[in-house]
Amino acid sequence: MNVLIKNGRIVTASGERLSDVLISGAIVAEVGTNLAPPDGCQVLDASGCVISPGFVDLHTHMREPGREEAETIETASRAAAKGGYTCVVAMPNTDPAQDTVAVVEFVKLQGERAGLCDVRPSGCITLGRLGETLVPFGALQAAGVHVFTDDGTGVQNHTLMRRAMEYAKDLGIVLAQHCEIASMTEGAVMHEGSCCSHLGLPGWPALAEELMVYRDIELCRITGARVHILHLSTARSVDLVRAAKADGLPITAEATPHHISLTDEQLRGFDPLFKVNPPLRTRDDIEALKRGLKDGTIDAIATDHAPHAPHTKELALDAAPPGMLGLETALGVVLAETDLSLAEVIDRMSVAPARIAGVADQHGCEVAVGSPANITVFDPEITWSVVPEELASKSRNTPYVGRTLKGRVRHTILRGEAVVVDGEAKK
Ligand code: DOR
Repeated sequence: MNVLIKNGRIVTASGERLSDVLISGAIVAEVGTNLAPPDGCQVLDASGCVISPGFVDLHTHMREPGREEAETIETASRAAAKGGYTCVVAMPNTDPAQDTVAVVEFVKLQGERAGLCDVRPSGCITLGRLGETLVPFGALQAAGVHVFTDDGTGVQNHTLMRRAMEYAKDLGIVLAQHCEIASMTEGAVMHEGSCCSHLGLPGWPALAEELMVYRDIELCRITGARVHILHLSTARSVDLVRAAKADGLPITAEATPHHISLTDEQLRGFDPLFKVNPPLRTRDDIEALKRGLKDGTIDAIATDHAPHAPHTKELALDAAPPGMLGLETALGVVLAETDLSLAEVIDRMSVAPARIAGVADQHGCEVAVGSPANITVFDPEITWSVVPEELASKSRNTPYVGRTLKGRVRHTILRGEAVVVDGEAKK
């Protein structure tokens, strides 16, 4: 099977050039201009579009097993492919949690069955994400897990986290931390600040995140483990990561599209659509996150795609679960809201996350002869609005209705197969 992508441009840090890309099997066979389609070749128009390595999401909640009313691995994979992702790291707060080889194998298998995206399960750090007993890291690594996290909660116990880092250092795995001191956020529904005081709602202090960012940086310093900080949301967290990197520590970090585009002011209408963990912060935090993304302090943009079924998300603000959809809108938010160059967008959404996820042999590779054909073709200029009914995700909890997004995925190629063509995912 051949696919020929016509009239796109390949963008790298050193410039851009108009290009066609011929894919043969699962590999890029030719890159050049005026390439002719071999017999029977599928031709995809890329006029006005960027031909990029496929995006990699470090942070996707696929909800299967256990919460299939909100999302399945198939519907999340379809949403991912439509958003330009060729690989996602599946978060472990499933039911049962991803703390055994059996559950991890199940997630991988469901990903292969869906065939729309390379699904890489993360593993828990502690059994059941209860923060008490470490998982069998070696067995899970042997089953292909590279990123370990208790996401949804942070590991509270300092000594346990230190032990986890000692294992991680030995094994060469990544520990991804959800930074939240639980005792400081009990009952909190939104960022602790003037807006929250006005509304009389219990607040979620920035310090609850920053203390754990600080602790994990210091544990990283004494263990040498690779630590990835999930969904950074405050200005001070960005400063802490910047200083840790300046000290040469093996720390990486991500920010979400929602934390760089929405503030706590959105909660004035008490709408649970805007409830998320960590919470939406202030304009100053947004500016700090954007500076961090621009200067590389924040390595990656990750969606924290968190589908919730309407019957849960439509509860009152204090009862509704935190989380927002992200896969299908990430690119459109990033191009609309940041001043990242196209090369920087490709780095933060594909190259850097591929490296952190340990999939850089397959994803985030420069579009060049011999590279794996995991590719996304996107129009960086087109503006559009979200129509919730048109989302591939099984849930509808997007906060972007009524906002104009910029940039949209046109085609996605997974292992040489066009899984999205002209914005439509294969059935
Ligand atoms: O808002 C969030 N939702 N943050 C998390 O860390 C977990 C996620 C979820 O699983 O719904």
